Amino acid sequence: MTDETANNWDSAAYDDSHSFVYEYGSNVVALLDPAPGERVLDLGCGTGHLTARIEEMGADVVGLDQSAEMIETAREAHPEINFVRADARHVDLATFGERAPFDAVFSNAALHWIDEQDAVLDAVTDVLRPGGRFVAELGGSGNVGTIVNALSAEIDAREYDPPSEPWYFPTVGEHASTLEAHGFEVRYARLFDRPTELDDGANGLAAWLEMFGDRLFGSVPDDDRDSVVAAVEDRLRDDLYDDGTWTIDYRRLRFVAVLTE
Ligand code: BEZ
Repeated sequence: MTDETANNWDSAAYDDSHSFVYEYGSNVVALLDPAPGERVLDLGCGTGHLTARIEEMGADVVGLDQSAEMIETAREAHPEINFVRADARHVDLATFGERAPFDAVFSNAALHWIDEQDAVLDAVTDVLRPGGRFVAELGGSGNVGTIVNALSAEIDAREYDPPSEPWYFPTVGEHASTLEAHGFEVRYARLFDRPTELDDGANGLAAWLEMFGDRLFGSVPDDDRDSVVAAVEDRLRDDLYDDGTWTIDYRRLRFVAVLTE
């Protein structure tokens, strides 16, 4: 994932310490259930682990991500797969030449980085064939709420400007309505809690904030950031840290939607 204005992506750290992102994503590949020969676009493919899994199942898959570093790592790891560096808000059929239209668009843990969901859905409807499916998982309403609240309280206590709405974490109703407004029929949608254990022991929360949390820090100056992180750890330790492991309150929204003919 993806929008380079959103976060600075370190693809090695992403693979080493945050592998849960694509490990949990295997369930979303199972929901996609790609058939051999199907044309699939993996939107926000990151380092390409799930793109490769879709390819192993026999589909003809293209991975797309906006981060140059993620795409470079994906190409090195999977030279046989076609990876495209592009902004999901601005792709169309011409971006993919003869490889499109696609039978399915797949996305794991990427859509919540993109504020302009209408632009993404315009792009998805353009590259998908009529009757094709959009299968995805993103953060859902309330996702990582304890972290957002603790950081907001700390930023408030230090009288910095708060961040604006950091991510797109919709309810089922909000997202289903947006999909319907773009011509999709929603066949399946579910919001569920998925408490997620972080790697890196006592450093897990700090490493997570370093990897994913840029948008949460508002106007905190760089030289106060470590101190803010330490204070947030203190605020959250009783609730989220146990036996050497941080477990954070992920909530996922998973859906299958079919583009009406
Ligand atoms: C998520 O995958 O749920 C997530 C990613 C980045 C920031 C917050 C949540």
